[in-house]
Amino acid sequence: MKALVIGGGGREHALAWKLSQAPSIEAVYASPGNAGIALDVSCIPGVANDPAEMAALAETLGVDFTVVGPEAPLVAGVVDAFRAKGLPIVGPTQAAAQLEASKVFCKRFLEEFHIPTAAAETVETVEELDAALDRIGVPVALKADGLAAGKGVILADDLETAKAEGRRLLSGEAVGAAGQRLLVEQFLVGREVSFIVLSDGRSTFEFRATQDHKAAFDGDKGPNTGGMGAYCVDSILSDDLRKVVMDTIIEPSLAGMRSRGAAFQGFLYCGLMMTDDGPQVLEYNARMGDPETQPLLYRMNGDFGELLASAARGALDPSLVGWSDGATACVVMASGGYPGEYEKGKLITGVAQANATGAKVFHAGTMLREGKLVTSGGRVLGVTAAGPDLAAALSGAYRAVEKISFDGVQYRSDIGSKGLAQKS
Ligand code: AMP
Ligand code: GLY
Repeated sequence: MKALVIGGGGREHALAWKLSQAPSIEAVYASPGNAGIALDVSCIPGVANDPAEMAALAETLGVDFTVVGPEAPLVAGVVDAFRAKGLPIVGPTQAAAQLEASKVFCKRFLEEFHIPTAAAETVETVEELDAALDRIGVPVALKADGLAAGKGVILADDLETAKAEGRRLLSGEAVGAAGQRLLVEQFLVGREVSFIVLSDGRSTFEFRATQDHKAAFDGDKGPNTGGMGAYCVDSILSDDLRKVVMDTIIEPSLAGMRSRGAAFQGFLYCGLMMTDDGPQVLEYNARMGDPETQPLLYRMNGDFGELLASAARGALDPSLVGWSDGATACVVMASGGYPGEYEKGKLITGVAQANATGAKVFHAGTMLREGKLVTSGGRVLGVTAAGPDLAAALSGAYRAVEKISFDGVQYRSDIGSKGLAQKS
């Protein structure tokens, strides 16, 4: 089979690389891809967010199926465009992707189907904001309704900050139109877990649970980012809790979308808070996580191509892949200043030496300039390694990280430390 991956970040590198390893796959294309993806598969320039262009590309290439990495093409309707032409694709329709595109839609959906989540009010004016804050109190989570590239959630400990940040969101100053409607949400306390399933609308394949690290700096300090590292080990979610999550959250969500005539086909990513009252939904994403995909696919056995092809056909067969024992870990190397302003075009050295340690360096924001690898984004590389346990996977990843350098490089040195503490 031939496959097309839409997107060009670290998650898409992992998707394309894993597909290229699958016995059933003879060719993989990525559009637009990036400099690192081009080392593993064929990259084709293109605008990922243009549904008609992507559908035409899939037709020209004659691929057997397409898989979508990021949320923006989904929200733009790429799956609808493919379906209209009868082209097999893995991903939710524009209607189903609303679970990620609108936090207000998602919250009302969770409430309608009695799926555990924090109580929240929707506000559109400063007066409504202040009244909701008085009722809900602090600490509080303020969430812009629309897509805001990870910058739309503010956690405030005191009322003054909550009022000021809420005003910045509502006025459009913080994240533009995405903040014109807000959720004012009760603050939840607990351990965060990323849990992803692949669904064809009816059957599901459960990925292992992973742990992301959203804050920019060690000790969970600093601003929220897209994710500075992730790991995958079975101790993150016990079998008992996994069953609770499937029974009380995932299955009712898939059934709810079906009953609304917007069956969810594709990757459903559930951001969970494990509270004293049980697992609660923090957010839904309509795609795999980045960087969660890197340690997940690095741990996967079996034919990922067959799995995705079966999902695209609407006949998902979860037995096509499995998991190796042990653990995997991914450390993100970012540009200095990320998630704020940062410079691009910094020369990257040591990637080959890092890969030679047995780790896999997934590229997120890299490009070639005069034949040399340089930085081109906030998150630059995702250095991923496996081991018999979490400690070994982490030391493998950090050993490889030490081989790589570029001007201003920034990474967390404590990825996985909570997981190590949890085990002991
Ligand atoms: P979200 O984009 O909704 O996942 O929010 C980004 C991050 O903010 C999450 O990963 C959590 O760390 C935190 N967060 C979101 N909602 C809440 C909440 N209700 N209580 C506590 N922390 C939250
Ligand atoms: N790493 C979090 C996300 O992909 O949304």
